[in-house]
Amino acid sequence: MNIGIIGSGGREHSICYKLKESLLVDKIFCFPGNAGTELIAENINIESSNFKKIHKFCEEEKIELIIVGPEKPLVDGIVDYFKNTNIKIFGPDKLCSQLEGSKTFTKKLCEKYKIPTADFKIFNEEKSALNYLQSVDYPLVIKADGLAAGKGVYICKDFYEAKIAIKEIFEGRFGSADCVLIEKFLIGEEMSYFIISDGSTYKFFQTAQDHKRVGENDTGKNTGGMGAYSPSRLYSKILDTKINEKIIKPTLNAIKDLGTSYCGFLYIGLMIVNNEPYLIEFNVRMGDPECQTILPILETDLGELIYACCQQKLSKFQIKWKETKSVCIVLCSKGYPDDFKKNVKINQIKNIKLDENEYIFHAGTKIKDEEYLATGGRVLNVVAISENFKKSKEQTVKILNNLDWREGFFRRDIAYKVI
Ligand code: AMP
Ligand code: GLY
Repeated sequence: MNIGIIGSGGREHSICYKLKESLLVDKIFCFPGNAGTELIAENINIESSNFKKIHKFCEEEKIELIIVGPEKPLVDGIVDYFKNTNIKIFGPDKLCSQLEGSKTFTKKLCEKYKIPTADFKIFNEEKSALNYLQSVDYPLVIKADGLAAGKGVYICKDFYEAKIAIKEIFEGRFGSADCVLIEKFLIGEEMSYFIISDGSTYKFFQTAQDHKRVGENDTGKNTGGMGAYSPSRLYSKILDTKINEKIIKPTLNAIKDLGTSYCGFLYIGLMIVNNEPYLIEFNVRMGDPECQTILPILETDLGELIYACCQQKLSKFQIKWKETKSVCIVLCSKGYPDDFKKNVKINQIKNIKLDENEYIFHAGTKIKDEEYLATGGRVLNVVAISENFKKSKEQTVKILNNLDWREGFFRRDIAYKVI
C-alpha cells in the first residue's frame, strides 16, 4: 500500500524509517518531509494546511493511508476533512484535538471528570489576571491558551516575572490570546506516557523522559525538546494503573460523552509527585523527540499496527517491544531556541557510518546540490539502543563528536537522571 506522512521533523523521519520496514508498505510520500525522508521516500512540496491539494495528490498516487505527525493539521481538522473520502487517515478529529489545541478545554474537562492536574484559574483579560497575581504564592505557571509549539509557558518566581508573562501573552506573542491560564507549580519529575487508540480500544505505547530546557541540568529556556530516553525511570506497574484509572480512562470517557471517539496516538504529559500522576498537558500526537527515541525499540510492524487501528482492530493486535534502552540527543543550530542561521552546511554527515542499533533522524534539514543543509533550530536526532542507558548514551555522543558540527550544539547530560 502507498502511504502519506504529514510533517517534516525528526518524528516524521522516524515514522517514515519504521514504515519503510513494514511488510504492508510499498511507497511512502512525505508532505513535505526533510533531507532524511528524501532518502527513503518521496518528498512532496505541498503545505500540510492545503488539505484539498493533498487529497488530489493522494488520489493521483493511489495513497490509501495518511499518517499525521504534527498537531497543527489535526487541530485544523485534517481528519474530519478526510473522513468524507476513500482515504484512511490516522489521527484524532478536530474535537479530540482540542485536548492539545486548547489548554482551557482540557483543564475544564479535568475539573468535570476529576482528573488530577495542577490547580488553576482562567482569566480572559489582563487587569483581573494581574489583580489575582498580586495575592498569590510563587513560583507559579502562566500559560497562553492556544498552540505555541512548546513555548507560551512561563514559570514565574515572582509578581514581576508574572506581569511580563501576562503582558506578552495578551500582546499576542503566541498568536491572538483570548485567555491565560494561571496554575500551581508542581514539584516532581516529568514523564511522557503514550497510548495508541483505534476509537474503542487503546494500548500502551511506551514511556519516555524528555529534556525540554535548552541548558545542561535542565536550565534555561523551554524548547521543543533537546533529547530523551526511553523507557522512563519512573515507570512502574503501580504508577501505570494510576495513570490509566485516574487520567486516561476518564479522558476517553469524556471524549465519548462529547459524541466522538479518540483515534491516534495520545501523549500524556505527566508530573509525578510522590508517586502520584498529575496531568500537565495532552498532546494529540507522538512526542518529538520521544517518537525518535521510542520507535527503534518497537518490534511490531508499525504499518500493520496503524492500519489495524484504522480498521478498529487494535484489540486483536499485540504490540511487542525490545528489552533495550534508548537514548536520543538532539543536535541544534547555535542560537536555538532564539534566532539561528539557516542553510548552514553539515559537512561530516555523509561520512558517518552507523552500526545496527544506531540511527540519525533528520529534523530541520534539506538537501541542495548534494549537500546537507541545516534549516531549522532542531537539526538532527541521534539515537542509539543497547542493553543499558550508559552505553546507548556513549554511542550517541560518539556519533555527535564524529559529526563535529561547529555551527551546532547539543546537551551532553541527556538521561543523566537514569545513568
Ligand atoms: P506544557 O506546554 O503545558 O507541557 O508546559 C511546558 C513545560 O512547562 C512542562 O513540560 C513542564 O516542564 C513545565 N510545566 C508546565 N506546567 C507546570 C506545572 N503546573 N508545574 C510545574 N511545571 C510545569
Ligand atoms: N517533546 C515534547 C513534545 O513533543 O511536545
